[in-house]
Amino acid sequence: MKKIVVLISNIGTGTNLQAIIDGVKSGKINATIAAVVSDSPDAKGLERAKKHNLPVEIVPKKEDLLPLLKKINPDYVCLAGWKQIILDKVIDAFPDQILNTHPGLIPDSMTGVVNNPDGTDALWNKGKMTNKAIQNFLDSHASYAGCTNHFLSHEFDFGPVLGRCFEKIRKGDTVESLYKRLKVKENKLYVDVLAKLCSSCQRGMEDRFNVLVIGSNGREHALAVAYAKSNKVKKVIMTPGNGLTDFKNPKINRRTIFLRKIKNYPEVAMLDFDGIVEVCKKEKIDLVDVAQDDVIAAGYVDKLGKLGIAVFGPTQRASELEWDKQWARNFMVKYNLPVPKFKSFNNKEKAIFYVNSLPNKVLYIKAAGLALGKGVIRAENKREAVDAIHAMRKFGKSGETFLIEEALIGEEFSLFAICDGESFVITKSAQDHKRIFDGDKGPNTGGVGSVAPTGVVTAAILRIIKTTIIKPVIEGMKKERRPFKGILYLGGMLTEQGVKIIEFNCRWGDPEAEVILPSIKTDYLTITESVLHGKLNNLKIKMDNKVRISVAGCSKGYPGDYSKVLGKEIFGLLETMRIPGISIFGSGIKRERERFFVSGGRVFHLVAEGKNILEARKKAYQAMALISIEGDNLHFRKDIGWRDLERMKQ
Ligand code: AMP
Ligand code: GLY
Repeated sequence: MKKIVVLISNIGTGTNLQAIIDGVKSGKINATIAAVVSDSPDAKGLERAKKHNLPVEIVPKKEDLLPLLKKINPDYVCLAGWKQIILDKVIDAFPDQILNTHPGLIPDSMTGVVNNPDGTDALWNKGKMTNKAIQNFLDSHASYAGCTNHFLSHEFDFGPVLGRCFEKIRKGDTVESLYKRLKVKENKLYVDVLAKLCSSCQRGMEDRFNVLVIGSNGREHALAVAYAKSNKVKKVIMTPGNGLTDFKNPKINRRTIFLRKIKNYPEVAMLDFDGIVEVCKKEKIDLVDVAQDDVIAAGYVDKLGKLGIAVFGPTQRASELEWDKQWARNFMVKYNLPVPKFKSFNNKEKAIFYVNSLPNKVLYIKAAGLALGKGVIRAENKREAVDAIHAMRKFGKSGETFLIEEALIGEEFSLFAICDGESFVITKSAQDHKRIFDGDKGPNTGGVGSVAPTGVVTAAILRIIKTTIIKPVIEGMKKERRPFKGILYLGGMLTEQGVKIIEFNCRWGDPEAEVILPSIKTDYLTITESVLHGKLNNLKIKMDNKVRISVAGCSKGYPGDYSKVLGKEIFGLLETMRIPGISIFGSGIKRERERFFVSGGRVFHLVAEGKNILEARKKAYQAMALISIEGDNLHFRKDIGWRDLERMKQ
């Protein structure tokens, strides 16, 4: 049998305490009440406690609560009108054991929203005491009022949600009339929640998820944060992670306390299958997010799935859409999708003959297999095309088959659809910046900046993309017996003839994930669970309206030789992290305590948010100005978002 303690004060009337006492007496709550604690001897609830012969403790000073609770050592502590602040050290001593009831609808993640039964947004009433909260329901003309029962966290009026109740607001309701009805439901909710927690087969919030994110780049960091924000997630493990992913300094920003859930396994490399399985066992992992193209192409979804581990991402067969450009183009043709003219070859001579038969135009020569993002060569003329055909040899097996494509002319964009094999939800559009220098000059990179959303994809274009591209892909993949579950990434080009497909990828983009994931307001674990269970259709995914821009901090020399920058110290990161609206996602970065060092070409991605591109961009560059790499070795583009900025001026 569990042991509970109820904390009251002289503000309430003790109805929650009474409901708990009745719940225990009737046997519904399988627990004993070890003590009723009040900060004042005048609390009305004390009468109720005495009537039922319950032990009473008076604790006028908040500092005295922890020693008392430690002495009693209860399984659960129930706040029922306790008016004193609970010190963080009490919360730390009883994690996921202190229950509270709040007169508002607490979301599962800090940026989330709860739906009322009629689908409208529910009010959180964060920071509002009971009367003000009830008044707020009325003042806001909400359709429903409601309460949340939750575990306490360091964040005020927030924490893992145990249950919610709603009460329809009636015409002519006053604070008194509304609260009277809500109170009945609140009391019942408290009993139901406690009954569940104390039942022998229910382990309470211990059944929260442990998630493993494979990878070490900015995208994977952004994913780890999205999972960590979910109250349904207990811990997020990263293999291997980077120097910023497990950096937790609550002094920097109290709102990011959830980052403490993230832990790295730096010794387990991204493609170390045995190491990953080992970590899954050791950390009792419930869900793996494969996140990264090489991991997906290596079939980790299938391989981990066979071991009985739930995995988010497409199977190896479904992800052929990304790892085999020839298969992908043939699929697109079969399902009438808009593609550039192309031909595939596995014979150099035939390919050269074909090039010579074409007019002298720009062509793209592409290795069919994965080639670390370097398998695509732009040829300005026939001579360069022939050189590119010869160069396919460098890519080994990946270049044995290659494609020759006409060059599409227009503006590129990225669009992401979350898919469960049957249905899909489009998140936001984004625009990547692939060239290393301003004005889209210099060599191609993995992506050195991004904006979301981008104005290239207007509402009308989005509608066309949904019906003529995304829907047929999902249906086609189902017909091919390769149902697509995961993130479908359309690399598109808006040409004079409409949208054309450059390529599909089977995961979030990097650095697009960094500007899209933070805008998703729906709990991210709920989204992945819906995908795994094929229930995306029933889920409304909410996004905020902010514009985000990411600027990659690179080692000077990248994407060429930057070896002299490796190990150099990075300055100014901590200062930037303190600025509201700025997040930093690590990539090629290492840490020693609170000092950071370069370990890659793209070192970090700084993300700024604003109400429009102007505001986001201004914030991003103000923050970037605070960062430097020892020996003047930081390079970043100063013009990220330039196309959207120009569009805005038009
Ligand atoms: P990929 O490796 O397939 O992402 O291609 C790299 C980049 O090459 C794309 O982001 C485009 O900028 C460009 N690209 C690839 N195919 C074409 C094409 N057919 N026409 C124009 N640009 C292309
Ligand atoms: N944004 C480019 C990529 O993720 O492949």
